Amino acid sequence: MLITERDLSQWPPPYPDQTFVEASLMAEKERGARELAALTYSETLIAELEAADLIVIDTPMHNFIVPSVLKTWVDYVARPGRTFRSTPEGKVGLLSDRPVFTIIACGGSFSAPSAEQTDFLTPYLHYVLATMGLHDVSSLRLENLRRGAVAIERAEAQLAAWIVDQAASWKKRQRSDCRIA
Ligand SMILES: Cc1cc2nc3c(=O)[nH]c(=O)nc-3n(C[C@H](O)[C@H](O)[C@H](O)COP(=O)(O)O)c2cc1C
Repeated sequence: MLITERDLSQWPPPYPDQTFVEASLMAEKERGARELAALTYSETLIAELEAADLIVIDTPMHNFIVPSVLKTWVDYVARPGRTFRSTPEGKVGLLSDRPVFTIIACGGSFSAPSAEQTDFLTPYLHYVLATMGLHDVSSLRLENLRRGAVAIERAEAQLAAWIVDQAASWKKRQRSDCRIA
């Protein structure tokens, strides 16, 4: 099994510049060498998505949403005419669907009434992935990771149980896929 890892915190993507924005929105046949060069990085990231049998997005929450490096990654992969197209009925995803697992690490709490916060991250990721055609998304949100060792241990146990659960339903799905085939 080949695993491709892209660590955005260690190798942050550059912010999309004006040439990228113009090239991205331009009709394909109008692009020259400058525009094609500006799309190279985006094409590399999209090729990684297209080659993947399954995708894992493991991210912290920053100010209730995705960290800016992950948002920048989204700006490179969610491209009109490439990973989705716009129609009068709305956007249609162009990537073939495959399982996506998102693991979201949060320093604070979502369940404690005294420290409630709103999670814009999970619905945002689901929405933008679906825009590109990725609908089969399973998410886990880990809370209180900045609230001491006990909370971290609890989150680690939750993560381990979730992975076992996901692996079991993955195996079950593969068995039923075989039966259909
Ligand atoms: C800039 C920044 C913004 C953050 N915003 C939130 C937030 O909105 N909600 C939250 O629960 N945690 C927030 N955190 C905490 C991170 O989610 C937490 O640090 C992350 O889960 C990683 O855990 P670790 O720092 O123990 O590795 C923020 C952290 C940083 C650095």
